[in-house]
Amino acid sequence: MKLGTKTQYGSYKNLISVLDLTLSDIISLCNAADIFKKIVKNKGGCDMLRYRILATYFSEPSTRSLCSFHAAMLRLGGNVINVDNNHSSIKKGESLTDTIRTLNSYCDAIVLRHPHVHSTENAASVSCIPVINAGDGTGEHPSQSLVDVYTILCEFGHIGDYFPFTKSNGKNNGKSTYDQNNNQYECNMTIVVVGDLKHGRTVHSLVQLLAQFNGIQFIFVSPINLRMPDHIIEYIKELGAKIAFTTKLTNEIVSVDQNNNQNDALSQADVVYMTRIQKERFENETEYNNVKGLYILNKELLARAKPEGSMIVMHPLPRVDEIHVDLDDDPRSAYIFRQMNNGMYMRMAILHWLVLDKLIPDQIDYIK
Ligand code: NCD
Repeated sequence: MKLGTKTQYGSYKNLISVLDLTLSDIISLCNAADIFKKIVKNKGGCDMLRYRILATYFSEPSTRSLCSFHAAMLRLGGNVINVDNNHSSIKKGESLTDTIRTLNSYCDAIVLRHPHVHSTENAASVSCIPVINAGDGTGEHPSQSLVDVYTILCEFGHIGDYFPFTKSNGKNNGKSTYDQNNNQYECNMTIVVVGDLKHGRTVHSLVQLLAQFNGIQFIFVSPINLRMPDHIIEYIKELGAKIAFTTKLTNEIVSVDQNNNQNDALSQADVVYMTRIQKERFENETEYNNVKGLYILNKELLARAKPEGSMIVMHPLPRVDEIHVDLDDDPRSAYIFRQMNNGMYMRMAILHWLVLDKLIPDQIDYIK
């Protein structure tokens, strides 16, 4: 992980972009999240961050990111202060950088959500404590994508051709084969990413993170005007990811990189990642209305997908109408509650890492 700005207080780390994370960081964070899951299940929490204080400052709405960071800090034995956007001095015209400097005087880390791209990077440049980007406008949302990668790992036991667990530990989706000659697993994982890919910061981070793993292919489903930004496409292609585009979630045949298959996006998906059309990012109501309700996953559509144990449906939430509530009870629906639940464990791992500068908790006896 790239170090943050060197200050008079020394170097420290921030979580601003997934581009700062190495594959080894990602794996270590997933391992740490797994340890925290066991700690919470067995003991409710621990005191690894006792007396530490987290500041949360969200100037855009949030339920899951805010609450899961808050709960994560409490379960680590720490405390949280929240800067209320409506009652802080920002209302009087105080700048973001002055607010960050103020929080530096009282706290050990800051979680920031802000409407402007690069705002969290600017905040980190004046901060002597770690800054975590919880969404910078249409930019990135790295902690959510770590939650998502961890969820895929929990659900399948592997990501692409990366198997951290032995075959008997992880659930096997049946596609992997062990290549005795090369002493490795060969596996492809198809991730179908659906919705507002232009403005959706969660998927900007997610696909760049997933592209670090081998054996991943993406099918991007969006209207032409809401396509994944070019710089992200270029980046993931450079990393070797296979990509296909379509505007339809129905029965249009989608071939990934000239691969001669005859399947539509849904029936080849291992993961369907639905996203909300980001109404607040549109210039006007008419533009939004043109794309509103374009992709709605329902029972009839999901019938095209693979069976339980072979595929999952994810969503960073909140949903508006992209996934019909009828699907909530479907075992393939990971968004309620498994993905959401993993959010707290991964955020415990992130806070532990940034505040103590240790990736894997050393107090393993807490697990027993
Ligand atoms: C998302 C966000 O805020 O970017 N939610 C989240 O943090 N889990 C998704 C969205 O708002 O559509």
